[in-house]
Amino acid sequence: MGESAVQLRDLTRDFSIGVRGYKLRALDKLNLEIPSQTIFGLLGPNGSGKSTTLKIILGLLKSSSGDCRIFGVPAGDRRARSQIGFLPENPFFYQFLTGRELVCFLAGISGLRGGIRDQRVEEVLNAVGMSASADHRIRTYSKGMLQRIGLAQALVHEPEILVLDEPMSGLDPLGTNEFLEILKSLRDQGKTVLLASHLLSRVEEICDEIAILDKGSLVRSGSVHQIVQDNSRLILEIEDCSPEREQRVLEILRTEGIHSLQVRKGRTRLDEVFLEAIKPSGKNEQQE
Ligand SMILES: Nc1ncnc2c1ncn2[C@@H]1O[C@H](COP(=O)(O)OP(=O)(O)OP(=O)(O)O)[C@@H](O)[C@H]1O
Ligand SMILES: [Mg+2]
Repeated sequence: MGESAVQLRDLTRDFSIGVRGYKLRALDKLNLEIPSQTIFGLLGPNGSGKSTTLKIILGLLKSSSGDCRIFGVPAGDRRARSQIGFLPENPFFYQFLTGRELVCFLAGISGLRGGIRDQRVEEVLNAVGMSASADHRIRTYSKGMLQRIGLAQALVHEPEILVLDEPMSGLDPLGTNEFLEILKSLRDQGKTVLLASHLLSRVEEICDEIAILDKGSLVRSGSVHQIVQDNSRLILEIEDCSPEREQRVLEILRTEGIHSLQVRKGRTRLDEVFLEAIKPSGKNEQQE
């Protein structure tokens, strides 16, 4: 973790809606620091202001008041925009292009030319596991492949910050796992990943820090570890626990004066069952 990648100070955004121009406050004096080299989750119910925050960070939307800086540079400034790669919630990619052509085209827009561009395109296609399918047309891609190619186009100009709006929506558990592994490796290479998501269990697993918004205001923020930790409770998990051993363990705990015990049989998470069940064919279709 290093300096702040993104700094929001009293960020406020109003929208006027309806013919009477009724004012809707989508963001209300939001203060937030997103440390560099972390995976940061922006959470909150529908309409809480997540996408509005991301759009201001990207420089696609102006704030009504307050300040938004990317590595110290005001959002929207060319130097700030060049540091950010973006994967929108519902990306539209030209269906008749191949994945490689799309990434190549966007690399060109970012100013990359010739051999350097081709080399960089190859690198990102490889990093997102799309080399084998790069020459197929985008209209033939599955949702997981679309997200990967979306990630490739967001990464092609080597941004320091990656902004993702609901990146896991529509991905199956395997696709989600693979996508999260890519994000982790990007973080480990020193990138900052900022994502808005509703998939809380996956967010808990992958994010270093989170912020929770409600009606445009910050209601909680900090490290995921600190937020979910409850020091007053202890959870014991015993592998291969026979009924006899269970009885003995309970007796020992009771002789220790521990009577308010919650004993539950172990459970496997449904996504673990799902992944186990599809293991034999769990090979990536993109890699074939
Ligand atoms: N262009 C716009 N014009 C008017 N109101 C808008 C506009 N964009 C966003 N809003 C309003 O701002 C509020 C925040 O919207 P935003 O899209 O940021 O929420 P969100 O947290 O991303 O929600 P979701 O989880 O549904 O994606 C909502 O009440 C929304 O209706
Ligand atoms: Mg949104």
